[in-house]
Amino acid sequence: MTIIVTGGAGFIGSNFVYYELKNHADDKIICLDKLTYAGNLETLADAQGNKNFKFVRGDIADREAVYKLFEEEKPDIVVNFAAESHVDRSIEDPELFLRTNIIGTSVLLDACRKFGIKRFHQVSTDEVYGDLPLDRPDLFFTETTNLHTSSPYSASKAAADLLVQAYQRTYKIPATISRCSNNYGPYHFPEKLIPLMIINALHDKKLPVYGKGINVRDWLYVEDHCAAIDLIIRRGTVGEVYNIGGHNERTNLDVVKTILKILGKGEELIEFVTDRKGHDQRYAIDPTKIFNELGWTPQTKFDDGIKKTVAWYLDNRAWWEKIISGEYKNYYAKMYDNR
Ligand code: NAD
Ligand code: TYD
Repeated sequence: MTIIVTGGAGFIGSNFVYYELKNHADDKIICLDKLTYAGNLETLADAQGNKNFKFVRGDIADREAVYKLFEEEKPDIVVNFAAESHVDRSIEDPELFLRTNIIGTSVLLDACRKFGIKRFHQVSTDEVYGDLPLDRPDLFFTETTNLHTSSPYSASKAAADLLVQAYQRTYKIPATISRCSNNYGPYHFPEKLIPLMIINALHDKKLPVYGKGINVRDWLYVEDHCAAIDLIIRRGTVGEVYNIGGHNERTNLDVVKTILKILGKGEELIEFVTDRKGHDQRYAIDPTKIFNELGWTPQTKFDDGIKKTVAWYLDNRAWWEKIISGEYKNYYAKMYDNR
C-alpha cells in the first residue's frame, strides 16, 4: 500500500512515519510537508535511507502540487497530520491556521474525490470539544460531545472535521477522524509545554507557568497515538470518529514539578506568568469506543513516558539546540519577555 503522510516532518507525523516503516515494512510511505518552522528534515534523517520512504516538500493548500502528487503516487491512504498546531500562535495570528488547517484539508479531500482513495484519515484533536470544568472530574469527552471551540486553532480543526464529514456524506469519501488528547515524546517542538520546560530547566531558566498552573491536560505518549491511528486506518469503520486518550490527567503544575524532579532541579525555577487568553480548563478523553471496537489501550504510563522523554531531550541536544538558536529566539522573546 502507498500511504501519504502529510506533516510527517513534524512531531507526531514523524513518529508515525517511523511507526509505519517499522511495523508495515511492505508499505510505501510518502511524506508531504511544507517544512514550516515546525517541520524539520533532520527529524526524518533515519527514514531517508529506507527504500520505502520518500520525502516531498509541498503545501497541502497548494492544489496543483497536491493533485500532481496524487496523480504520480496514486495513494491508497492519506493520513493528514499537516497543520498549524500551536494555540498561542493562533491567538497572535489566526489567518495561517485557517489556510492550512481548513483550506489545506479541503484541497486534500478534493484530491481524494478526483483521484479516488481507499481511506482519508484526519488527525484531529480533543480541543474541538472545548473544555470541561475543573470541578466536574466525572465528565469526559465522548465522540458525541458537541463541538465547542475556544481558540482559533481549535476552531480551525473543528471546521476541518466538519468538512471531512461533509465530503464523506456528499461524495462518499471513505474517511475517518481521530481526536486525540495532548501528546508528548521525542521530536516535540520546543514551543510546547513539556519540551519547553525540559529545555528551560536544563538552562536553569525560569519555567513560565500560565495562570495558576491548575489547568488539566490528558497526556498520551506519542507512540500510543501512532498505534491508535494505525489501527483506525486499517481496521476502523469508515464514517466514524474515534477519541484517543489514556486517562492520564495532570495539572500543568504537576507536569512541571515532575520534570524538575527528574532533572534534579529546584521548584524555585517555576514562575507564574499572565494566563493564556481563553485558556481551556480541562481536557479529558473517554476512550471506550476505540477500546471496544479496535482493542486499543495506551501502553506507556505517564511516569515512564515522561522519564523516557526527558532522557530523549538529554540524548538529542543537537536536535533542539539548533532549533532554539534560530528564529525561535524571536518567538520566545515575543511571547515570554515581560509576560
Ligand atoms: P507540529 O506543529 O509538530 O507539525 C506540523 C507539521 O505540519 C510540520 O512538519 C509542518 O511543517 C507541517 N505543515 C504545516 N503546514 C503545512 C502545510 N500547509 N502543508 C504541508 N505541511 C505543513 O504538529 P504536531 O504536534 O505533530 O501535530 C500534528 C497533528 O496532530 C495536527 O493536525 C494537530 O492538530 C494534531 N494533534 C496534535 C496534538 C498534540 O498534542 N501535539 C494532539 C492532538 C492532535
Ligand atoms: P501546550 O503544550 O501549548 O498544548 P495545548 O495548549 O494544546 O494544551 O500547553 C499545554 C498546557 O500548558 C496548556 O494548559 C498551556 C500550558 N502552558 C504553560 O503553562 N506555559 C507554557 O509556556 C506553555 C507553552 C503552555
